[in-house]
Amino acid sequence: MKQGKIFSSSRQQTLAIAARFSRVLQGGEIIFLRGPIGAGKTVFVKGLASALGLKSSPTSASFSLMKKYQNKSHRLFHIDLFRLEEGEVFNLGFEEMLEDEKAVILAEWPDPISRMLPQDRLEMNFILKEGDEREIELQSFGRVSDSRLEALCKIAQ
Ligand SMILES: Nc1ncnc2c1ncn2[C@@H]1O[C@H](COP(=O)(O)OP(=O)(O)OP(=O)(O)O)[C@@H](O)[C@H]1O
Ligand SMILES: [Mg+2]
Repeated sequence: MKQGKIFSSSRQQTLAIAARFSRVLQGGEIIFLRGPIGAGKTVFVKGLASALGLKSSPTSASFSLMKKYQNKSHRLFHIDLFRLEEGEVFNLGFEEMLEDEKAVILAEWPDPISRMLPQDRLEMNFILKEGDEREIELQSFGRVSDSRLEALCKIAQ
């Protein structure tokens, strides 16, 4: 397990950090995004997807809970399980994502599905500070996420 902390002082800076971080992703990363409403979790995901040149493609059953982004070289799932309970995540169309070992998974409010995902994951906890300032606490739980955490700390310096 590794820990770190990065800072952002604007939406633009969060987008820039996400864009740089997108280049270290190799597929198979699991990233949990925590923190209150309006903290910047979705901004980070959008920065990442757009830097990779990804467009979201419609997912059938649960498009408000899960967005799939893909092109020839990357697949990325963005899920947001706000207000969902663990018992409610069945039959919502997450099977494809759970079986895709080469996709990047970014999960806001991930608790309902966390036990179905591998342990090796990067946790990013967005903390609201004064105005547009955000502190982002990082924690990693395995070989892959440890290395992504180190990369992210370097990128955000
Ligand atoms: N440093 C910052 N980083 C990211 N967003 C910021 C920052 N400063 C201000 N903002 C603004 O805060 C808002 C963040 O919204 P966003 O949708 O990303 O929140 P969220 O964490 O995904 O919330 P929710 O839990 O409701 O999904 C945006 O309006 C964005 O412009
Ligand atoms: Mg969001």
